[in-house]
Amino acid sequence: MADIRFDGKVAIVTGAGGGLGRQHALELARRGAKVLVNDLGGALDGSGGGSDAANAVVEEIKAFGGEAIANGSSVTDDAGVQLMIQQAMDAWGRIDILVANAGILRDKSFAKMEVGDFQVVLDVHLLGTVKPAKAVWEIMRQQNYGRIVVTTSSSGLYGNFGQSNYGAAKLGIVGFMNTLKLEGQKNNIHVNAIAPVAATRMTENLMPPAMLEMLKPEYVTPGVVYLCSDEAPTGVIMTAGAGAFAVARIVETEGAYLGEGGLSAEEVRDNWDKIADPAGQQPYDMGGAQTAKVLRKVQGG
Ligand code: NAI
Repeated sequence: MADIRFDGKVAIVTGAGGGLGRQHALELARRGAKVLVNDLGGALDGSGGGSDAANAVVEEIKAFGGEAIANGSSVTDDAGVQLMIQQAMDAWGRIDILVANAGILRDKSFAKMEVGDFQVVLDVHLLGTVKPAKAVWEIMRQQNYGRIVVTTSSSGLYGNFGQSNYGAAKLGIVGFMNTLKLEGQKNNIHVNAIAPVAATRMTENLMPPAMLEMLKPEYVTPGVVYLCSDEAPTGVIMTAGAGAFAVARIVETEGAYLGEGGLSAEEVRDNWDKIADPAGQQPYDMGGAQTAKVLRKVQGG
């Protein structure tokens, strides 16, 4: 099969001044995309900003003959997001790809976490994904083409000590994707999520050096590039790290219909093994498919 190329396509990568986003931006540009490199340039906890992170990546792209422009807006700032979209539209007249990657951490056990730390992390990750997506959505609809990659995390999918704020935001992003994948379908807008694991400033203090060496951020990027391509699936959560790729799914068990025996908490308790039995469990494409299963079970199917 032919190489994956993005000639003539325009990509926006948020939080692309360092870590994973920088690698995504560089590789999209190497494969021919014109790239808007967004980064606020703040600290890991979201404070500060204004370093030259986005400009530096633009210079790297230009150095190998690629085309790129920098934007230093926060993904949470409405006017800043509009400016980012306007810069890309003024320069190139279209937006084909959005990689929503920007993120911060405010880790603390829930007992010690202030609601403010929860709010800030939700703002940057969830609304910082929603706002750029909203700003490109109509453009992609008009073009009848779009590829959006949102960034989730194993913390959201499975939990992680000290990350109740981050985990809530990251699974919120999956919920957002689940509806966009449906609403984008008729306009050829595919929306997928990447759940990366990589050595960046986010993880450098969490893992031993030998492990960090295996987890180069550029080992995640091929997964993101595939999800940005014409051949991308839609509605998929791809996990990626150290060169290993997999798909994560939310599944539901077949369960048990208890309506005939009497509906009581004791019935639920006494049938728990059947309710939770993983045999025949499966994912569903949309909420309505789960309702259809319930009706089938009521009818004895
Ligand atoms: P990083 O800290 O190196 O990169 C995040 C970038 O986002 C930084 O350059 C930062 O300046 C930028 N940023 C932060 N807030 C911003 C805002 N409001 N507006 C614009 N830019 C902003 O961290 P890393 O690891 O590259 O993270 C990238 C994404 O991958 C994040 O969404 C993170 O949650 C996610 N992730 C990373 C994992 C890992 O193992 N490194 C694991 C799971 C998810």
